[in-house]
Amino acid sequence: PIHPVVLSGGAGSRLWPMSRALYPKQFLPLASDETMVQATARRVTGPGFAPPIAICNEEHRFLLAEQMRAVEITPAAILLEPEGRNTAPAATVAALAVAEQDPEGVVLLLPSDHVIADPEAFRAAVTTAAAAARQGYLVTFGITPNRPETGYGYIRVGGHLDGVVGARGVDRFVEKPDRATAEQYLAEGDYLWNGGMFAFTAETFLAEMERLHPETVTAARAALSEGRDDLDFRRLASAPFARTVSQSIDVAVMERTDRAAVVPVSMGWNDVGAWNALWDIGERDEAGNVLHGDVMVSETRDCYVRSEGPMVATVGLTDAVVVATDDAVLVAPRDRAEAVKDIVGRLNAAD
Ligand code: GDD
Ligand code: MG
Repeated sequence: PIHPVVLSGGAGSRLWPMSRALYPKQFLPLASDETMVQATARRVTGPGFAPPIAICNEEHRFLLAEQMRAVEITPAAILLEPEGRNTAPAATVAALAVAEQDPEGVVLLLPSDHVIADPEAFRAAVTTAAAAARQGYLVTFGITPNRPETGYGYIRVGGHLDGVVGARGVDRFVEKPDRATAEQYLAEGDYLWNGGMFAFTAETFLAEMERLHPETVTAARAALSEGRDDLDFRRLASAPFARTVSQSIDVAVMERTDRAAVVPVSMGWNDVGAWNALWDIGERDEAGNVLHGDVMVSETRDCYVRSEGPMVATVGLTDAVVVATDDAVLVAPRDRAEAVKDIVGRLNAAD
């Protein structure tokens, strides 16, 4: 079977004030009635999939366990990180956990902060990716870009792969290029965005990590074996885990490997990075507004207005985001709302 691994370690500071350190965006029902971590896990249930492994920071363990229970998913394991060290160590630990059971098994690494509108297209792409993974590739999912976004990885699509229909080689993987480079890639036209999901066998991934970051494999193995079980959780030992390389899988492996492949897929993918994305995928009324909760608007167009508490009213507003919780309010132009992360940085520095 395919072993889904749900990564749930991000903070989501660009979705403040709803997303908070103790309550990050993947645990919020932002895009639908389900939270993103629930939707992520539910998307990979059914024939062909083993129960998911989830990996998160230890302070989010009860949130994660409770949200899985609420959608009747029993994870194969919930791995707890003593600190966030980015995705390469998390992927390594998860691959080691899969390898204990099924060394040739396919690992499907999934971020928990995405919306996928077309689950059928997603599953078809996963089937293709798993076939390529069994041939020894580290498989990415390629999304057609529509703007020079600098927050994503870019994949230059290579030739067809022998024996795997629907997957292509990767000529080049560039994580988070600067604006000018992103514009150039968009103009050249043979680049896809990296969708942030990966498929590989535990063996292939661990062999690549062993080659590129051997100390991290040793440390991750020790973090697992010296860790301890605690209720439904598997706690990683903090001293060895602190010796892993603190890099993303994109930088640690994908930019450097020559075993990368890509499955191009159109599946209504949206990385719910900032408030503007929620306006984009939300249900807009005839004035172009997405409204949530106790809000009233007048002469307001193309706005995202949300309240989780007090009544919110807007008058004569265009292209803005207004988000109110019980103790904080954000107001920003829609196309600048992601800069709220600077405020979160200042708030964090203050405490
Ligand atoms: N367990 C765990 N531990 N999970 C983590 C950690 C960690 O230390 N750090 C991040 N994650 C989780 C996040 O919660 C998210 O679900 C996923 O891993 C990806 O991390 P992000 O921090 O959101 O990455 P990104 O958005 O900057 O970039 C990645 O995704 C883009 C698409 O959304 C890259 O893969 C890019 O290449 C890609 O384009
Ligand atoms: Mg992300």
